[in-house]
Amino acid sequence: MNIRTMKIEDYYSAYELWTDTAGMGLRSLDDSYDGIEKFLKRNPNTNFICSIEDRLVGVILCGHDGRRGYIYHAAVALEFQRQGIGRQLVDRAIRALEEEGIHKAALLVFSSNEKGNQFWESMGWVLRNDVNYRNYVINQRNE
Ligand SMILES: CC(C)(COP(=O)(O)OP(=O)(O)OC[C@H]1O[C@@H](n2cnc3c(N)ncnc32)[C@H](O)[C@@H]1OP(=O)(O)O)[C@@H](O)C(=O)NCCC(=O)NCCS
Repeated sequence: MNIRTMKIEDYYSAYELWTDTAGMGLRSLDDSYDGIEKFLKRNPNTNFICSIEDRLVGVILCGHDGRRGYIYHAAVALEFQRQGIGRQLVDRAIRALEEEGIHKAALLVFSSNEKGNQFWESMGWVLRNDVNYRNYVINQRNE
């Protein structure tokens, strides 16, 4: 098993994993090749993939804005789940954030995503009941 930083060359394998994985909320612009390339350029050290025998089996997008870290699209191929790959990807992302001077991170998981929520709970990510999540759509094409 090999875990390393994600490069744009990994995009198509990562995208295939995301589309094959339940619980992902993919966006047409943000998750396009250009969208991911932009994200990786801004955050070159904090995104990771896991491969086994040249097959991409896990991915985590992670970046920060100089203040908070954010995690997106953590996914492990079904047949490789429950083997600690997700945990290792999160650990690498957190360490990378720490190295960049970031002290707090956040993420969104669909409430209905039981597996995802159990995973983040076990990783020590605290569920906040005291905030309302709000967003604003700037470009309607980003469905
Ligand atoms: C969530 C996900 C990335 C976890 O990856 P993983 O490699 O299977 O996770 P790990 O093996 O590192 O699990 C770490 C711990 O999380 C918990 N956990 C993981 N999957 C779980 C499940 N299906 N049910 C209950 N607990 C679970 C366990 O405590 C586990 O430790 P254990 O196996 O020693 O009991 C993977 O299940 C996945 O790709 N799910 C679909 C996509 C998704 O929902 N992503 C999260 C939303 S952003």
